[in-house]
Amino acid sequence: MNRNRSNSEAGQLRIGELDEQTIAHSAQLAELIIDEIKQQGGKIPFIRYMELILHTPGLGYYSAGAHKIGAAGDFITAPEISPLFSQCIARQSQQVLNDIGGGDVLEVGAGSGAMACEVLRELEKLDCLPAHYFILDLSADLRERQHAHLQQELPHLMDRIIWLDALPNEGFKGVVLANELLDAMPIHLVRFDPENPVERYVGWDGERFTWCDGPLSEPRLAAAAAHIMAECGVDEFDAGYVSEINLAATDWLRSVAAVLEQGLVLLIDYGFPRREYYIPERKEGTVMCHYRHQAHSDPLILPGLQDVTAHVDFTAIAESAVEAGMDVAGYASQAHFLLGAGLMDVLADNAKTSTHEQQVVQAQAVKTLTMPHEMGELFKVIALTKEMSPGLTGFSMLDARGRL
Ligand SMILES: C[S@@+](CC[C@H](N)C(=O)[O-])C[C@H]1O[C@@H](n2cnc3c(N)ncnc32)[C@H](O)[C@@H]1O
Repeated sequence: MNRNRSNSEAGQLRIGELDEQTIAHSAQLAELIIDEIKQQGGKIPFIRYMELILHTPGLGYYSAGAHKIGAAGDFITAPEISPLFSQCIARQSQQVLNDIGGGDVLEVGAGSGAMACEVLRELEKLDCLPAHYFILDLSADLRERQHAHLQQELPHLMDRIIWLDALPNEGFKGVVLANELLDAMPIHLVRFDPENPVERYVGWDGERFTWCDGPLSEPRLAAAAAHIMAECGVDEFDAGYVSEINLAATDWLRSVAAVLEQGLVLLIDYGFPRREYYIPERKEGTVMCHYRHQAHSDPLILPGLQDVTAHVDFTAIAESAVEAGMDVAGYASQAHFLLGAGLMDVLADNAKTSTHEQQVVQAQAVKTLTMPHEMGELFKVIALTKEMSPGLTGFSMLDARGRL
């Protein structure tokens, strides 16, 4: 399933039966947020609200035990749809590992562990296993799930798989992978008033969480908003234009650049180049919530029970990569990337050992991963490199860096 906004509008959201434990869990998180709102004099910046609903230990959406990803959860990601996705990522990684004479893989935000499993399986098949496959994930619950999945599927490779609590030390050589990580990072919501940009805050009216405005809570937001408005044409903006600025993503990228000595950072996510992101049609921004496979736009309901995300401004990612000393080595839609990275070769290889039914399932997955109205066009892949030769195979079909 892709994450296009059309699935459901907030008004038609089907919440369904919630058991007592789930209601109590959400109420406990809401209490904690309400306390913080009161302590802060009546409102907190939306970014803080998003941090709390996603990552409060034991209660946040990612830190608590909800199933989250997959058919039984709230949304499905590309690695969950088919191993084909990860097999293509593995082939791109193989090119890099061969080019730099071996190294490690680091996956950040590994979800259920599906991508780690299939990337390792494919790299083993290609006789190109990394020295280590590091996993860094904020969620203790998902770390457990990753461990169980990998232990079951790849017991013979467990000694190479290492869970980290923070980015590795400087001198990392290899490939950094992150699928749908940047969209999960808390964002500032800004009202793009050219005269006086203000920030969106969350308050509590005694019954529900409410929206309100307040001053910019982080000094860098003024310059970031001015930069966006200058590049996208100030005429597009007014006090009614509310959208996101993702400083966490650009900060994270700077930290990754600081530890990467040589290799590739490959980021896959949904989003646009800046000039296609901040357009009049998106004057309410791109914040999207996922609850039991329904997409809607109200993050103030169901605290801790739904995923909340925002699209990625890939121009901001490219800019911070360059500032941090990396090269932007490629940018393409997911469809073009997968085809360039060898999707057809992977299919042909898989066909040698698949039944007819399995081939039909794979053909369906190819459609979901690559068709423009499914995941093929909204999802993008950006490659950031250090000390690497040019010519990544994933961008051999199309390299749209010029659009960034
Ligand atoms: C939308 S899920 C994607 C999971 C997986 N990559 C996939 O494609 O199925 C986001 C993942 O990123 C993790 N995460 C969110 N913020 C993170 C951060 N700042 N550092 C590390 N992991 C993070 C979450 O716990 C979760 O595993």
